[in-house]
Amino acid sequence: MGMPHTLIVFATTDGQTRRIAERLQATLASNSIEATLAGIDQAAEFDLADYDCLIAGACVRYGRHDPRMARFLDDNRTTIERMPNAFFSVNLIARKPEKRNLAGNKYLRKFLERLSFQPDHVEIIAGKLDYPRYRLIDRVMIQMIMKMTDGPTDGKSVIEYTDWAQVDRLAERMAGVLTDSDTGDASAARTDSASRQAAAET
Ligand SMILES: Cc1cc2nc3c(=O)[nH]c(=O)nc-3n(C[C@H](O)[C@H](O)[C@H](O)COP(=O)(O)O)c2cc1C
Repeated sequence: MGMPHTLIVFATTDGQTRRIAERLQATLASNSIEATLAGIDQAAEFDLADYDCLIAGACVRYGRHDPRMARFLDDNRTTIERMPNAFFSVNLIARKPEKRNLAGNKYLRKFLERLSFQPDHVEIIAGKLDYPRYRLIDRVMIQMIMKMTDGPTDGKSVIEYTDWAQVDRLAERMAGVLTDSDTGDASAARTDSASRQAAAET
């Protein structure tokens, strides 16, 4: 069997979700897994049947993930369900560790409720705060949200909260699942992955 090939589909506005996708690609590569990146607007051009694994990620804006991501996942459900897969959510409330799990993160719960199936694995990753980049109205809104949640409100703040070790662990987990399935027992590997996740969430 050749090198397993992963498709990483990402939906980003300000670039942090893309940077996380690129880091996943690099870490997969160092685990001998090839990965191709696709922005959500090009995702339809890729045939998922050509891949062995899907990792999808989207940022949150005003409480919502890009609706094109839910559509992409639903449209490709049958193919995705046949391969190891993961979804990661990028948002700023996840700068608080207790918001990095499903119980603490309403955005991801809502996103998953709307999907017609559940990804094997989900990960919540803290994004980047970049006030100078935002339009005035967005800056004021984010300052209000930050004020309510005890975050930085100085309009000059640029803070990257992303835990890169967490991103690397996600890549290594997927590499592990793919390597296990190389030995011929993909379903065992996937069940193992699901139970590890359940254990991690309790
Ligand atoms: C207009 C706007 C709205 C946002 N809304 C939320 C939100 O509702 N909840 C949250 O946790 N983070 C929110 N964020 C933070 C983003 O999720 C965070 O900055 C993330 O890194 C953006 O990802 P991107 O760079 O891939 O676009 C918002 C950011 C912007 C600019």
